[in-house]
Amino acid sequence: MLTIFETIKKVAIKIDHAIKTEDLGYSDSENSSGEDQLKLDVKSDYIIEEAFRDISIVKSLVSEEKEGELQLHQEGKYTICYDPLDGSSLVDVNLSVGSIFGIYEGELKGENLVASAYVVYGPRIELVIATHNKKPQHYRAQNGLFNFIGEITLNHKGKLNASGGTQQHWSAVHKTFIDGLFASGYRLRYSGGMVPDLHQILLKGGGLFSYPATTDKPEGKLRQLFEVIPFAFIYEQAGGEAIDANGERLMRLIPAHPHDTSPCFFGSKSEIEALKTAYALNTQS
Ligand code: F6P
Repeated sequence: MLTIFETIKKVAIKIDHAIKTEDLGYSDSENSSGEDQLKLDVKSDYIIEEAFRDISIVKSLVSEEKEGELQLHQEGKYTICYDPLDGSSLVDVNLSVGSIFGIYEGELKGENLVASAYVVYGPRIELVIATHNKKPQHYRAQNGLFNFIGEITLNHKGKLNASGGTQQHWSAVHKTFIDGLFASGYRLRYSGGMVPDLHQILLKGGGLFSYPATTDKPEGKLRQLFEVIPFAFIYEQAGGEAIDANGERLMRLIPAHPHDTSPCFFGSKSEIEALKTAYALNTQS
């Protein structure tokens, strides 16, 4: 597993370099979710694929930018599901973006996730790695090397509120709940990049990030294998909770297809409790 984390560190430096130096235009292709691919999406995907090709413990790769599973080593133990450059459309306005990695052993489902990691490309490059029975570990790059900063622990209750999707497509329940959070003093923090938005909530002590079911996207927007499950694990390891619109733990998701999405809510315990009450959900998740 250490080899995988070391490889993630190497690709992070390369992707950061690509973000800072390469063409920001569109490629001629779309990804599996029908989104136009930027040249940077394709390049970041290529950097990750090339880096893991020689790692024999990696059985296969599943990328947000590829339709199917790429088989690498038959004897390998792990499948790495990744979003090479999440929020890539924010690069042209110079906002932070990220890469997300979910490392699975066996069938691709939440319960088989053994570790996850994400990289934030912002004013600095930061990396968070989560494994079982440990708080998420926070690193920052300096001169190409990642230094350990500390462990991440969410407070019981935070101050930040981030909800995705357009308000005109939210349900009445979601809108009332979000309005209620603002009325009780929460601050809006939403850049439109899942990685920096969730990173901010983790590092600033807590709050809530929602990407609810909307009338235009009833199954949500964020992808289970490369976005939702890896972050659900990190939030749980940090002492928070991560649930779907039925109050089920996101770690229980079993995607039918690699690109399946799910409504998702990540937060400190207090905000998730409030969400369950507002959505009238069974709290025994
Ligand atoms: O996965 C794509 C993404 O860019 C996420 O990084 C982000 O959280 C979300 O989409 C933003 O979507 P919306 O603009 O609908 O709120």
